[in-house]
Amino acid sequence: MDRTAQLTSHVRTRPFVYEPDVTTHSLHVRAARVLEANWTGTSTVPSRSLYPHQWSWDSAFIAIGLRHLSPLRAQTELETLLDAQWGDGRIPHIVFNPSVPLDAYFPSPDFWRSSTAGRAAGAPRTVQTSGIVQPPVHALAAWLVHQADPGLSRARGFLTRVYPHLAAWHRYLLHRRDLGGAGLASVVHPWEQGMDNSPCWDTPLSRITPAPARSFRRADLDHGSPADRPTDLDYGRYVRLATDYRDGEYADGAGEFAVEDPSFNALLIASEHALARIAQELGAPGTARHTRAERLTATLIDRLWDPAEGMFFCRDVRTGRLVPERGVSGLIPLVLPTLPRDVVTALVRTTASKHFGLGGATRLVPSYDLLGEAFDPHRYWRGPAWFNTNWLLERGLRTHGERGRAAALRRAVLHLADTSDFAEYVDPYTGEACGATGFGWTAALSLDLLHSATTHTGSKGGDRE
Ligand code: SER
Repeated sequence: MDRTAQLTSHVRTRPFVYEPDVTTHSLHVRAARVLEANWTGTSTVPSRSLYPHQWSWDSAFIAIGLRHLSPLRAQTELETLLDAQWGDGRIPHIVFNPSVPLDAYFPSPDFWRSSTAGRAAGAPRTVQTSGIVQPPVHALAAWLVHQADPGLSRARGFLTRVYPHLAAWHRYLLHRRDLGGAGLASVVHPWEQGMDNSPCWDTPLSRITPAPARSFRRADLDHGSPADRPTDLDYGRYVRLATDYRDGEYADGAGEFAVEDPSFNALLIASEHALARIAQELGAPGTARHTRAERLTATLIDRLWDPAEGMFFCRDVRTGRLVPERGVSGLIPLVLPTLPRDVVTALVRTTASKHFGLGGATRLVPSYDLLGEAFDPHRYWRGPAWFNTNWLLERGLRTHGERGRAAALRRAVLHLADTSDFAEYVDPYTGEACGATGFGWTAALSLDLLHSATTHTGSKGGDRE
């Protein structure tokens, strides 16, 4: 039996009967094949070519899909990441695979120098990592992974082992990263928020003096089309920010770039609700965490909601001002269960408006305002549609009872994952594949939507919150 057949032979089968336009069995097998091809033995790379190490939020999304193929591998994925956690609680955005050549990806471990420059912040000695973070989807992922096979999870003590790591991670973000002093976490680098070249960063980044182009060599252009990737000027600024952070031994608070981002904080809050459920499962009261998550939701609205525009915006902590760019990040708080009804209604309206085109002009929700001056349908986070943000929006729509829109979005995600060969991102109008193909979270989140759809057709899936 070949590896894919082995992998799929023990998949716990549920009927995939809802999307007449998608050959669901074939999609399932091909998604499993992507995850198999990207599996290293202890974790999953986002892409063999472009991203050959373990990425933090990729791993969380990948675990959410992997749980349907192998709950054990999904648990291992998260455990491998958490093994690289720093003493101060941060989960690094990249965990480097020592068997991958240094020039395969930039910035490589010799740039970040985690075990020396990160010593004061408690970087691990045995594994090399980056020194910045990524969005905190991990507690949500851990809870969903547990739910896929509670028996295995309890037998392995999965939640008992991950809970202290996740609690320390949230403590780091809510205390060390509260740079605005209002209770929200700030990101100190665009790579931390994950939407690297979003136009939302243009103003805060414009203050940063770029590192000279000759001082580093990009590896991404060896694998991706330059028209799909951030520019050299963007990279100069990314390198400068990361260098300064490293040279300050990864201490928080001093950097020139500090932004409160709606999506980063919404994922933290969603994960705080998940951590409350994990605590309850472990026999501890979860009420305090739920209460904190509700309080943070109120703070998010207070700090980042613009009722006139009907969406959330980033706040530049260094100027105190909201950044008037419509990024998909400003829609992601829709995942929050305790959002007031008027905020939900406005967010859904904005998602379906001419700025984002849900159910109208676009096939998937784009990463940036269709009418924005900086819109570019192919360039990374300046317009293309991404599968993780659409998965989050599908979840948010369903959480708030928008079943019709959620079902249509689910169908579109599955269809475009299929036709794009699990692309990293797609042109939001045409669905044309951009970036890498065989992309980890695209395959994983497609699997999740294939499986979770059974819960909307009456079967007792029970794997959704
Ligand atoms: N997304 C970044 C890259 O393109 C790093 O996290 O390499």
